[in-house]
Amino acid sequence: MRVKILRQNNPYSKPYWQAFKYDGDMNVSVAAVLEYLNYNDDVKDENGHHADVISWECSCLQAMCGGCAMVINGKPGLACDTFLRDLKGDELVLEPLRKFPVISDLVVDRGIIQENLKKANAYIGEYEHDDKYSQDLEYQIGRCLKCGLCLEACPNYVKGVNFYGALFANDSYFINARRKSDKESVKKNYDEHFAKGCSKSLACEKVCPVNIPTLASMARMNRL
Ligand code: SF4
Ligand code: FES
Repeated sequence: MRVKILRQNNPYSKPYWQAFKYDGDMNVSVAAVLEYLNYNDDVKDENGHHADVISWECSCLQAMCGGCAMVINGKPGLACDTFLRDLKGDELVLEPLRKFPVISDLVVDRGIIQENLKKANAYIGEYEHDDKYSQDLEYQIGRCLKCGLCLEACPNYVKGVNFYGALFANDSYFINARRKSDKESVKKNYDEHFAKGCSKSLACEKVCPVNIPTLASMARMNRL
């Protein structure tokens, strides 16, 4: 398999394509291919020439941390949860997430996710238990990895727009259900940073690696 990677040495340098050869097992994840290519730090491109170690991020290798989010054959996905056998064609094309600044190769800076949550005071604070909310939905939302794949896929999440995306809609539902006081500000921020910008493409739901039902959170928050 030919592995083509969009590389970038640092945040300020120009991106360039570099291709590698992978001739191992097809029953492995994209993360395993990257580990294979970087093995021994003696990286060779497809022509056998020396190449720099490929930068990419991972922690859990089991679809639980969101670190390895990238664009895989044109679609946003987790490298550790995308398997070669499920890809079409004999080329694997890897690019960094496009909606975030590149730090190096496939590593991007997703700090904006936390910054936006802080700006919108998206924290629970004093906690309350309220049976009128669905604990089942809250549990599902609680699994959010903050991987940013929903932002990558969303047509409305673009630079300079005050729209915080699906993960924020989900957090808003969760926080409104659990926060003891000042629920009004949760609704106000949801309106300002989500409801006004969402066109319901639902690309977020399709791409979410842990299947968080954003439509359900949106429906409940919109009703409130
Ligand atoms: S909602 Fe899904 S896609 Fe979006 S950050 Fe959370 S886990 Fe990732
Ligand atoms: S390494 Fe944690 S989700 Fe892929």
